Amino acid sequence: MMRPGPMVRAPLIAAALLLSAFAQAQQAPTGPLLPKDSIEASVFRGGLVYANYCVTCHGMNADGNGRAARLYTPRPANLRMTDKNDEYIALIVRKGGEPLGRSGKMPPWGEELTSEQISDVVAYVRSVNVGNR
Ligand code: HEC
Repeated sequence: MMRPGPMVRAPLIAAALLLSAFAQAQQAPTGPLLPKDSIEASVFRGGLVYANYCVTCHGMNADGNGRAARLYTPRPANLRMTDKNDEYIALIVRKGGEPLGRSGKMPPWGEELTSEQISDVVAYVRSVNVGNR
């Protein structure tokens, strides 16, 4: 099956960056295109975090089928189906699997990501999650 390759993704990411630069350039009171504190903006930024830090394992569709997924037992979680709440997701992203009694192959990201990036990627996971509604 064909997956979107870099030729497809690169322009999408370029467009995303352009849109986010444009959104930042917008000023109140006319109203920003993507207000910094809106859930949509958070999900949008979280998608960029996800594409950089999570996609290799958890996959383009967040279904746990990233290109490195087969290297791990247990497999990376299907984030579309996770039943974990936002607090747990933020915690495992920050600390990694091991301190939570899970696989240490889920890496700790607390040193790499800011707390804003972590809450953004949690918002992104929530936005694709269909298992916990
Ligand atoms: C090197 C591979 C790898 C990367 C990169 C990775 N993960 Fe994971 N992740 C795993 C594995 C493996 C598990 C399953 C752990 C287990 O079941 O014990 C997991 C589990 C999880 C869980 C638990 C879900 C549940 O339902 O219990 C969450 C949430 C999660 N990852 C989010 C993320 C996010 C967000 C990122 C990016 C910031 C990320 N992961 C990056 C491998 C990875």
